[in-house]
Amino acid sequence: RIKVRSIQEAEESIVGTEVKVNGWLRTVRDQKQFAFLNINDGSSLSGVQIVVDGSSGSYDTAKSLTTGSSVSVVGTVVKSPGKGQKYEIQAKSLHVFGTADQSYPLQKKRHSFEFLRGIAHLRARTNAIGAVARVRSSLAYSTHKFFCDRGFAYLNSPILTASDAEGAGELFQVTTLPVAKPKDIKTTDAGEADFAEDFFEKPTFLTVSGQLSAESYATALSDVYTFGPTFRAENSNTSRHLAEFWMVEPEMAFADLQDDMANAEAYVKYCINYVMENHMEDVEFFSKFVEKGLMEKLETVRSQPFAYVSYTEAVQILQESKEKFVFPVEWGTDLQSEHERYLAEKHFQRPVFVFNYPVGIKAFYMRLNDDQKTVAAMDLLVPGIGELVGGSQREERLDVLEKRIADAGLEKEDYWWYLELRKFGTVPHAGYGLGFERLVQFVTGMDNIRDVIPFPRHPGNAEF
Ligand code: 4AD
Ligand code: MG
Repeated sequence: RIKVRSIQEAEESIVGTEVKVNGWLRTVRDQKQFAFLNINDGSSLSGVQIVVDGSSGSYDTAKSLTTGSSVSVVGTVVKSPGKGQKYEIQAKSLHVFGTADQSYPLQKKRHSFEFLRGIAHLRARTNAIGAVARVRSSLAYSTHKFFCDRGFAYLNSPILTASDAEGAGELFQVTTLPVAKPKDIKTTDAGEADFAEDFFEKPTFLTVSGQLSAESYATALSDVYTFGPTFRAENSNTSRHLAEFWMVEPEMAFADLQDDMANAEAYVKYCINYVMENHMEDVEFFSKFVEKGLMEKLETVRSQPFAYVSYTEAVQILQESKEKFVFPVEWGTDLQSEHERYLAEKHFQRPVFVFNYPVGIKAFYMRLNDDQKTVAAMDLLVPGIGELVGGSQREERLDVLEKRIADAGLEKEDYWWYLELRKFGTVPHAGYGLGFERLVQFVTGMDNIRDVIPFPRHPGNAEF
């Protein structure tokens, strides 16, 4: 058995060999002397053409097949006289696993992404969503490869946690169904909903970030990264937000903000390079049908240095620009996505790091700068997306961190173990979080974040 992609990429010596291909039928053309089947197994975009001779025993079956049927073909690889493919297969035998009738929703025509979201269990069989899935997988592989090659240890941070890592209160709380309650666990009078709280002896949530665990391990293994699902109960009715998304979070001991940004730039470039070297067919497809000029964009991003600008300079640039913004720009307020996109798309026209944000708008753990007004934070803004990465150097001074926690209105007791990392052998350290779906969007040019994760979760949807 051989995958379609291996046939297409094979040397000429494959001609004449007998292969077995399995897949789903995209099209059938009956030309009396021959039936042509196009079979796709998801290993590549184009599928492979199967030629069934009119005189063969499989011909009647072949010509009656319909789009969506699953088949297995044994045949000989021959050079294809047609354009667009190097080889095709002359069928010797054909086996049908399962047919698909006329109600199969993916008949050959273009479907809107919105329509496809309603059939998320089938949409990976389309060209676009199939290509997204391959590129997403490849980006995950290149993520692991980038960090592992540089001596980072891969850390599995917990999904259930009592900590609010961002201190922003955007948490999904965990409860249990009454039926899950084992008899020997004591419950409160308050009722069944308290079971989870009782179980963990604290209110417990789905994690918003693995950062705090990563800091714990970075202050032991030096360089670590997490890569897992994170959850936010924020308004995710946008094309850039999900309630469940995947985050890549490296954390480096003995590192400052400069090291942090340099690592993020190298990582993003590495991933783009990897996809361009290994999935050109898919990138060309996206460049043609999804985002015109995608190829040139990726080529520039991987080869040109990113821009660097302080928050204070960025505010100046925005104030001096002739652009009409909906939200005014003032030092001390957070940049809105219209501002972020202006900086990346119009002013710098490439990915740009904005760093040293006002202390008042950033998370409690970010290191206070000497000016006492800004923190050593950074966001990486990219054209078409806005914020792709958010990170910082961490506050490693115990007394300063205790004060920041109090100022943020958080309870010191809730962060007791996090504070101990500063009490025992504290070191300068830094890290960042990259929104994995936003990276997939950036590399594929896909407009809506709901189309780059297999089964999106957002207000009103946790189906499939
Ligand atoms: O900027 P954020 O909130 O940073 C953190 O969570 C830090 N703890 C990361 C760290 O320093 N280890 O989130 C990081 C990135 C954002 O830049 C964005 O790309 C993505 O995560 N992100 C989301 N992606 C999809 N849907 C959402 N609701 C997202 N919220 C953040
Ligand atoms: Mg952020």
